[in-house]
Amino acid sequence: LDDGQALVPPMGLNTWNAFGANISEAVVKEMADLMESLGLVAAGYRYLVLDDGWSDPERTQDGRLQADRQRFPSGKRPACLPNSIKALSGYLAGKGLLLGVYSDSGGFTCQGFPGSRGHEAEDARSFADWGVSLLKYDNCYTHDDLLERFVAMRDALNATGRPILYQLCEWGIGDPWLWGPRVAHTWRTTFDIHSSWASVMQNLDESIGLARYAGPGHWNDLDLLEVGTFGPQPNGWEGVHGASLGPEPGGAWQWATPPRVRGQYLSEKEERAHFALWAILKSPLFIAADLRRMAASSLAILRSKEVIAINQDPLGVPGDLIWKSGPKEIYAASLSGGGRAVVLHNRHSILSHLQAANITVRWAQLGYAPEERAAVRDLYRQQDLGMHAGSFTAEVRLHDVAVLRITPQDPQP
Ligand code: DGJ
Repeated sequence: LDDGQALVPPMGLNTWNAFGANISEAVVKEMADLMESLGLVAAGYRYLVLDDGWSDPERTQDGRLQADRQRFPSGKRPACLPNSIKALSGYLAGKGLLLGVYSDSGGFTCQGFPGSRGHEAEDARSFADWGVSLLKYDNCYTHDDLLERFVAMRDALNATGRPILYQLCEWGIGDPWLWGPRVAHTWRTTFDIHSSWASVMQNLDESIGLARYAGPGHWNDLDLLEVGTFGPQPNGWEGVHGASLGPEPGGAWQWATPPRVRGQYLSEKEERAHFALWAILKSPLFIAADLRRMAASSLAILRSKEVIAINQDPLGVPGDLIWKSGPKEIYAASLSGGGRAVVLHNRHSILSHLQAANITVRWAQLGYAPEERAAVRDLYRQQDLGMHAGSFTAEVRLHDVAVLRITPQDPQP
């Protein structure tokens, strides 16, 4: 949408993959505290989004959405005090965070809570009254007037006068990149991601070639970041691809950390590759991990300043795949100041005996003169790799990346 919001892709944390529908005020506050104390707010993660499960199964007598009163107990207070969601947005504001909530364009959310179909105007008004700054809008229980419903919520949000970032979740079914720029700030390009390399690669592949549809105010959303997530989640929650529908509201929580199994969850290299690819394609960057039990290596990836800077570059040009030969891939994006961000990616299979690959990016592939001298910098290591003429070659390990910034000596705009 061309309304001055989301000029760069939004960044934040979303509750879905870690907690399923079993979210509570207490856990959300804990995540907010950790976002601040772990330096994630300072790194640019601004939104904390309550996904499906925050609301009560029933609307109020006058038809308003309300938070679940057991799990969001501030809502039990006398009516003169702010309700629980408003109280939460106030709490988050004190941490430098903005609150996001979730609803659905159909009659129900995917987990069976009330959807906003036919209630667009009053729900948008509630969100604005509660200090909500982002709406994730889902696609369950919809009919063939889907686009009309999405537009109705766009107009309802707009009518509130409050800037509310509109994040569509249509799963890439009806080519939302074709109409999304007029309707929302971001749209999902795929079904739900989960914590495996195959899932990350599937979402990547389904998003190749879509860069031209995105830009400031309208972004392809490749779904949440599986960095620091450990596959099966508490109480057997495995995301929508698993059989479980998640814990019962109010059910006992078990925090056993599942073991990391090679090939099933992401390795450190895979997390690094996943994060860099989402960054250069200019996907929204939403953490999906439980911050209470995240490996230090995952946290370091999520805080990688110079990789985040690619994603947040003010020019707002999404990168795309520019070259591929077997398992070797090159992704590139133009940056403000005339440089290029480049991700060299090695997809060799675990079974391959040739696991490391030399990958060469040539200046001509980036639109530079072959004899041009350019500075090369490694953005994860934050190291200058010197001046190079014509090309640069890196050895990239299996399921890993080299993330580079290439800046010609005399950059052409
Ligand atoms: C389907 C969406 O794609 C997910 O991201 C999540 O929001 C669930 N619905 C919630 O039920």
